[in-house]
Amino acid sequence: MLVNGRRINSCLTLAVMCEGDDITTIEGLAHGGQLHPLQQAFIEHDGFQCGYCTCGQICSAIGMLAEARAGMPSHVTADLTANTTLGAAEIRERMSGNICRCSAYPNIVAAIRSVAGDAA
Ligand code: FES
Repeated sequence: MLVNGRRINSCLTLAVMCEGDDITTIEGLAHGGQLHPLQQAFIEHDGFQCGYCTCGQICSAIGMLAEARAGMPSHVTADLTANTTLGAAEIRERMSGNICRCSAYPNIVAAIRSVAGDAA
């Protein structure tokens, strides 16, 4: 989930820790029946199988894209002075904390790459 726009591990966060914060979960991403671009991309790229991890993958991807836009480097960022290009290696590294037991990783990366240049 996103707390004040930043991705966090909801399973390690007590509700009382978020008092007064702006909380966004997967349920809050679609507006008026219109899916968030990442939700749509996950469908179009078959970015899930059982769907167990999908809520976290999508919320984390939204936070990750915001981090990249803000210029935050990852462990594999080659040039810390240039704008980050979100290639597959960057996306895999930045999403490495989100585990998928179905191993849908190639399609998850494809879904994220398809919207990486758009406002997420
Ligand atoms: S789609 Fe099944 S765990 Fe990711």
